[in-house]
Amino acid sequence: MPVSLHDYSSHDQQIWDEELEDFVPDRVFDAHIHLFNPDHLSSTEPTANRWGATDLATIQQWAAKLYPGRETHFLVLGTPLRGIDVAAHNDWSIAQVRQDPQSRMNRLVTPACTVEDIRRDILEQRFMGLKPYRIFSVTGDIAQCRIQDFLPYPQLELANELGLWVTMHLSRFHGCADELNLSDLREFTLKRFPNIKWILAHCARSFTYWPIRQAIDQLRDLPNIWYDVSAVTDVRPLITLFSREDRRRILYGSDGVDATYFHGQYASLGRAWQGIDAGRLDLQFPHCDGRPILAIYEQLLSMKHAAEIAQWSGNDIENLFWRSAAELFGVRFGNDESDVNSVGHSLTQATYVRAKELIPGGTQLLSKRPEMFAPGLWPAYAREAHGCEVIDLDGRRFIDMTTSGIGSCLLGYADPDVNAAVGRRIAMGSMSSLNAAEEVELAELLIELHPWADQARFARSGGEAMAIAVRLARAATRRDKIAFCGYHGWSDWYLAANLHPTDVVDGLQGHLLPGLEPAGVPLGLSGTALPFAYNDLDELQQHISRHGNEIAAVVMEPTRNAEPDPGFLEGVRELCDRCGAVLIFDEISSGWRMHLGGVHLKYGIMPDIAVFAKAIANGHPMAAIIGRRRLMDAAQSSFISSTYWTEAVGPTAALATIRKYQTLDIASHTHRLGTRMSQAWHDLSRRFSVPVKISGHPSLLRLSFDHTEAAALGTLFTARMLERGFLTGGGFYPSFAHQEHHITAYIHAAEPVFAELAIAIQQADVLQRLDSAGTQVRHSGFARL
Ligand SMILES: Cc1ncc(COP(=O)(O)O)c(C=O)c1O
Repeated sequence: MPVSLHDYSSHDQQIWDEELEDFVPDRVFDAHIHLFNPDHLSSTEPTANRWGATDLATIQQWAAKLYPGRETHFLVLGTPLRGIDVAAHNDWSIAQVRQDPQSRMNRLVTPACTVEDIRRDILEQRFMGLKPYRIFSVTGDIAQCRIQDFLPYPQLELANELGLWVTMHLSRFHGCADELNLSDLREFTLKRFPNIKWILAHCARSFTYWPIRQAIDQLRDLPNIWYDVSAVTDVRPLITLFSREDRRRILYGSDGVDATYFHGQYASLGRAWQGIDAGRLDLQFPHCDGRPILAIYEQLLSMKHAAEIAQWSGNDIENLFWRSAAELFGVRFGNDESDVNSVGHSLTQATYVRAKELIPGGTQLLSKRPEMFAPGLWPAYAREAHGCEVIDLDGRRFIDMTTSGIGSCLLGYADPDVNAAVGRRIAMGSMSSLNAAEEVELAELLIELHPWADQARFARSGGEAMAIAVRLARAATRRDKIAFCGYHGWSDWYLAANLHPTDVVDGLQGHLLPGLEPAGVPLGLSGTALPFAYNDLDELQQHISRHGNEIAAVVMEPTRNAEPDPGFLEGVRELCDRCGAVLIFDEISSGWRMHLGGVHLKYGIMPDIAVFAKAIANGHPMAAIIGRRRLMDAAQSSFISSTYWTEAVGPTAALATIRKYQTLDIASHTHRLGTRMSQAWHDLSRRFSVPVKISGHPSLLRLSFDHTEAAALGTLFTARMLERGFLTGGGFYPSFAHQEHHITAYIHAAEPVFAELAIAIQQADVLQRLDSAGTQVRHSGFARL
C-alpha cells in the first residue's frame, strides 16, 4: 500500500541524511513516474482502490521530501491500468505536466488507440513519446506477450516516423533475457524502426540479477537503447548495468508514487522477484533494528553501491540523475550557467601555462598541443573521457569530434570491456619479476589473423615499435638504408631523412612536417633514410636502382590519405623481392579501423613485417611487431629488450580489444559515420560558400579550409565549436562510440559557425574575430613554444 507523505519516517530521514544526501546531486530528472486521477477509473475496476490520487503537485511534494533542496523535473508516463479512460487520463495528465515546462510526458497507448489520435496528440499536445504496456496485449496473455502485441505495427511505424521515445516495460518471464524480446529489439533498432528511441524500464525489466546478465552484451551493441533504473532495489542488476553498459544510456527513474513510495522493496527470490510491502506483512525483527525504509531509498542505496563498485565518478552520477536526460529531452535546469562552455578562470588553461614552464613543448605529443587547435581556448587536459565525450579540469564537457585519442581509441574512450579486463589484471598484479603469459596468447591471435607472419615481438608505443622493425630489417639484411614514405615516429632512423649533406633537402616535407631540424641525430646517419611519395613507384624504383643492395627495408603505410593506385602495392612488393629489401607495413594508424587486423589483408599484399600500436589496445600502451621467422629471428643477433615491454596491462588490453573487434563490424561503422561527416562538411561548404578541402578515408578524415587564411579560419571554426561543446580540429577519426546523433548534433552546431566563417571571409576580419575570441592563429606544424 502506498504511504502518504506523513508516513515518511524518522528512519527514512536518517537514511537520507547519513547515506543519500551526499549521493543524490543538486538536480534530479525522474524519467519514470506516474500521475493518476481516480475519476478516470471506474470504481468497479479491481485496481481502483489501490491507486491514490496523484497530480503534479503531489509528485513535486514527494520530490521535495525525498530529495530535499534538489531541483526536480519528470518524465511522466501514462498510467497503464486496465479499464482506465485512456483519452481522459492522457488529456488530464499532459495538462498537469505542462504546468512545469521542464517536465515531459509519454502518452499512454493501447492497441485500441488510433494512429490518427496519437499523431494529433503528439503534434498538438506536447507529448514526447509513448507508454505502451503489456496488460493491453491483444493476445490476452499479459505475462508472455511480445512488444508488437501491445504496441502494434502501425503505432511502431508512427513512432519511427516521428522519432519518438518509447518507454518499454518488456513482458515475458525473463524480460530482456527472453530470446523473442531480444530478437524483436534487434529487428526494431537495427532494421525496421531505426528512429525509435527506446527506454527499457526497470533496467530492461531486470529486477533480479539474471536477465540483464544474460542480455547485456547484446543490448549494449544495439543503437537507440536507454534504460531507466526505476524500482530496481536489488544491487546486482544495477552493478551489471553500471559496469557493462555505456553510462550515458542509463537514466534515473523512481516509478513513484504507488510503485516505490512504500516501506519495503522488490526482493529477489532466485530468478523471480516480489514486492515486499512491510506495511502489509506481519514481519518480526527480533534480532535487528526492524525499521524498513522506503523502497525508493532502497533503490537509491543500491544505486549508490553499484556506482561505487563500477567506480563511477561524480560526473557519471550527475549524468545518471539529470544531465543525460537534460540533453536527450532538451530539459533546462535552473539558469544552467554552470553548463555554458565559457572559459572564465580556468584550471585547465592555468595548468597548461604551468606545463609550458615545466615541460619543454608543454605536452609529450605535438598533436596534443593546444597551439595546434586554438591557443588559449583549447582544453589541454581531460579529467575524464568516456565514449566520445571528454571532460576538462574545469568540468566542461565536450563531444570529441577529432581523432578519438590520436587514433588510439577505436572503441571509444574507457571502453567497459577493455577496462574490465585491464582492471582485473591490475588487481591481480600486472608487473612482477616474471613475464606476462598474455603476450603468448596475443602472439597466437595476431598470427592467426595474419597467417603470413610466424612470430611477434611487443613494445609499448608506435615509434619504438617502428624502431624495432627497422633494427630487425637492418640486422637481418646487414644493410643500412631505409626507403620510406609517410610518418613513422620520432626515432633517429627516421629523422635522419633531414640530415645534410644528403641528396634530398627537407626530406620529411610531405611525410611529416616541413622544415624539421634533425638536431641530436648523428650526422653519420645522413643518407640512410630515403623518402619516396605514396603511389610513386618510379621514385622508389630510382632509390632502388641507385642503392639497391644497400636498402634494408621499404617502410610505408599500406594506405593513409588515399587508396593505393592499381598495381602500386604489388609493385612495391615486387621491388622489395627483387632487391632483397624487407617490406615493412606500418599499420599503427591504418590497422583495425578499415579491416580486422592490418588493412594490407584487405588489399591482399603481405609484407615481411607489420607493426601495430594505437588502436590495438584501445588507449592502453601497446605495440606489436609481427613478421616472418627469418627476420624476427634477427632479434637474437641484436639487442632489443626493455623492462616495461614485459608488463601485463598492454597485452591484456590488446586481447580484450581485438576480441571485441572480432564481434563488431568496426570497418562498416567507421565508414558509415565518416562518410556522413564528409558529406556534411561538403554540404556546409556549399550552403555557406566556405571552401573546404576534405581528404582521406572515411575512417581517417582530414579537413582544412581551401583559402589563403586557412589556418585562421580553422582556428575560428575550432573556437566557435568549443563554445558549442564540440572538440573539432583538422580531422575526424570516428570511433565505435560515435553514433549518428553525435554527427547530427555536430552539424546543427556547425551551421551558425559556417555562417560566421562566410561573413569573416567576406569582411576579411577573421583575425579580429580570433582576437576577440581570445585566441590566435593555430600552428600548422612544429614550432618552439
Ligand atoms: C603511421 C604512424 N606510424 C608511427 C606513429 C608513431 O606512433 P607513436 O605516436 O605511438 O610513437 C604514428 C603516430 O601518429 C603513425 O600514425
